[in-house]
Amino acid sequence: MDMKAITPAIGMQVSGIELANISEADAGVLRDALIDRKVLVFRDQPITSPQYLRFMNIFGETVQEDLVPHEGHPTELCILHIRPKEMQNINFWHMDYSFRENPTPHLSLSAQQLPGCGGDTLFSNLEAAYAGLDEETKQRISGLQTNHKVSPTQNAKARFSPEEFKAMTESDPVRHPLVCRNPDNGRAYLFVNVPIYCRSITGMENQEGDALLASLYAHAQRPEFHFRLTWERNTVVVWENTHCLHYPVSDYFPDERLMWRLATRAVTPPQAA
Ligand code: SIN
Repeated sequence: MDMKAITPAIGMQVSGIELANISEADAGVLRDALIDRKVLVFRDQPITSPQYLRFMNIFGETVQEDLVPHEGHPTELCILHIRPKEMQNINFWHMDYSFRENPTPHLSLSAQQLPGCGGDTLFSNLEAAYAGLDEETKQRISGLQTNHKVSPTQNAKARFSPEEFKAMTESDPVRHPLVCRNPDNGRAYLFVNVPIYCRSITGMENQEGDALLASLYAHAQRPEFHFRLTWERNTVVVWENTHCLHYPVSDYFPDERLMWRLATRAVTPPQAA
């Protein structure tokens, strides 16, 4: 197995292995690399959906995301399909499910069908973003919490029943620490998300709090903390959802794009730093 860092802050390109046949020893190396680099990129991996599922179980127990399973595939396989003449409109920096007590720790995509060009995804490292803050800001945000709530995005209908969605919108926001600590490596990270999910700072639901949150969200998007992935067919990517923001670029209308996606079960909430 060969590994090459993609940028100083984030990402590892892994080659010389077949995801359909991972040894226990290689699985351990990949888990460690993911904790360190946040995103692993594997090129040219034409695996079946059951093989994809077995591979992803290296990182955690896979769970069903789509309400309706896809015929001929394991129930856990989610399909993200932007059809011809359909616009992808989740093109903003975000992490998934921060409005849950226990947000999904790992996500993965496998590129099945791609536009002629475009449809890239960007990933930003929230540990690097925290480390890149000045000391004054670190002190200012220490101990703060934020209020998270669901919003009706493009994928919401496939993933939540109307009853579940209504219950989430009517319940109190979920609170998470603004600065968290990753138990796997001891590093602090900035737990921010797009404003449609990360609504406000608890106790600072005012202009000052909103401006602070907006500046932290903008800070996390700086190019120093991110890389841009150009997909190829059969590229597989695994990332740490709660330690990253990602941005799917919506520049390929009216073309088509189809990704398989897997998510792992969340067992703990983000821990305060
Ligand atoms: C996602 O999982 O949010 C989709 C990312 C992508 O389609 O590039």
